[in-house]
Amino acid sequence: MPPAKRIAILTSGGDCAGLNAVIRAVVARAEALNWEVIGIRDGAHGLLQNPAEYVRLDPANIDTVVMRQGGTILGTTNKGDPFAYPMPDGTLKDRSGEIISAFKKLGCEALIGIGGDGSLAILSRLARQGGFPLIGVPKTIDNDLGSTEMSVGFDTAVAVATEALDRLQPTAASHDRIMILEVMGRDAGHIALTAGIAGGADVILLPEIPYDIKNIAAHIKGIREKGRNFALVVVSEAVRTAEGSSVINDLYGGQKRLGGIGHVIGEQIAAACDAETRVTVLGHVQRGGQPSAQDRLLASAFGVHAVNLIQQGKVDRMVAWSNRKVIDVPIAEAIAHYQVVEKDGTLVRTARGLGICLGDSVPTRG
Ligand code: F6P
Repeated sequence: MPPAKRIAILTSGGDCAGLNAVIRAVVARAEALNWEVIGIRDGAHGLLQNPAEYVRLDPANIDTVVMRQGGTILGTTNKGDPFAYPMPDGTLKDRSGEIISAFKKLGCEALIGIGGDGSLAILSRLARQGGFPLIGVPKTIDNDLGSTEMSVGFDTAVAVATEALDRLQPTAASHDRIMILEVMGRDAGHIALTAGIAGGADVILLPEIPYDIKNIAAHIKGIREKGRNFALVVVSEAVRTAEGSSVINDLYGGQKRLGGIGHVIGEQIAAACDAETRVTVLGHVQRGGQPSAQDRLLASAFGVHAVNLIQQGKVDRMVAWSNRKVIDVPIAEAIAHYQVVEKDGTLVRTARGLGICLGDSVPTRG
């Protein structure tokens, strides 16, 4: 029987664990409806190629084996805004029209875009300009998208960072050291806070809460006075130095990326506590590997719901997780609200209740 409908899917922005699980869920749900799914390669960039780069996603191949894999079988990119696309001569060109006409030539009735805030903003603008239906699926290890409690990839990143703390603790204790673990997260400290609590950190530094090195030193002194010879410190990559600046690296090709604040803080702690410190920058390890069970579940629920929304004729919606349920919200609403750590939220209060130092004060006991 010829397919009743053709839809497209793409992954955009930084990769994370669980993207393939979303793709598999979309393909499985579409197969049940006798729809065909095509996968566009490398985000919207596949549509800038001549001919457009895409692949038919055969349900026989896009199976539970694929669901277990990290990365994205479609490829992705977090470079090249199509509305201001960097050209070889150094100029910026609006190439949105090319993408829209390439998409229309594919004969798809809707697009499912798996992305974070930046990607969903671009895809939503393209969909409005091109007049095609778009459903967004939130993914980002940073968990900073609004309107969803959880984005695909976050849980796996937290598990990786927690395991890193589990591995750092015995070596810290063996050498009487203070171990600093720098984690990703951009301007939101969700990975640091969640993994820091789960991994038994003594100090957690977040971009949302400015720190004073004196508080950290006093807390570590207290730990030592009670007879413990090591400490674990988690630092989110966008934490600012005492002078108020983030540590940003200028990369080849003109890109700028956060990274290195852990080393700054490691030296500050070494000097303030007269201690041996070592710094681990976890980096992209947080994005790779097999997705956790939670990420597979979230991806599955999101993928099925995304196809159901297209079936119901809903457009410009993002699937989301709320109160143990999959729901959907306007994409514009989700991207308008950048979700940072709430300074008086449950996890911050939990950390303080556990006696973890968040850098702004010295936790008191008794
Ligand atoms: O947004 C996801 C993220 O992993 C951030 O946590 C990090 O700052 C950034 O992407 C790294 O980007 P890239 O993959 O380009 O190095």
